Amino acid sequence: MANEDYIIRPAEIEDLHQVMRINQRTLPENYPYSFFVEILKKFPKSFLVAERNGEVLGYMMNRIEKGLPGVFTSHLRANKGHVVSIAVLPEHRRKGIGKRLMIEGMKAMKEYGAEEFVLEVRITNEPALAMYKSLGFEVVREIRGYYHDGESAYLMSRKAENIQIS
Ligand code: ACO
Ligand code: ZN
Repeated sequence: MANEDYIIRPAEIEDLHQVMRINQRTLPENYPYSFFVEILKKFPKSFLVAERNGEVLGYMMNRIEKGLPGVFTSHLRANKGHVVSIAVLPEHRRKGIGKRLMIEGMKAMKEYGAEEFVLEVRITNEPALAMYKSLGFEVVREIRGYYHDGESAYLMSRKAENIQIS
């Protein structure tokens, strides 16, 4: 394996410029610096980077949301761990980095009290869909026209209960 020397760790403020560059390079959904800072300040333990020798190879940014009942949590004010954005640099894909970010990020969201994880993904985003399915996420429904260019999203969800802490 070519990737044994990267680490997964919580992001720090100094990482955000690299995180933003990866986000801009790899996804049409981009956000202002202040958005990254706000999520990092509110949920520092579940904002993760994969790093090798100071280079950020990927990130996962999450938010805990109290809101409407979820799919697996029927009570009001259910705690949902929302995967806001995850991406890995193209030249570092298919080495397991995305999956490790997801697993560590889900553990951290569970520590914040998440009972279920939710995310939206473009219906044509096959790599991401395959990764989420391999991690036990299921399509809840399609959200038509979710993205600014008119593409639809799948709302996907997974229970937090059985996430492996290992
Ligand atoms: N084709 C098919 N299956 C894939 C692919 C692909 N291109 N990429 C990943 N998978 C599946 C496989 O099942 C893979 O396991 P395997 O390699 O053992 O077969 C599994 O996902 C895990 O793959 P990883 O190597 O852990 O994933 P990677 O580090 O490549 O990152 C990611 C996956 C984050 C989706 C990456 O492709 C990426 O950055 N894409 C662009 C950004 C993006 O689309 N982000 C998600 C948007 S939705 C959101 O953010 C909520
Ligand atoms: Zn979302």
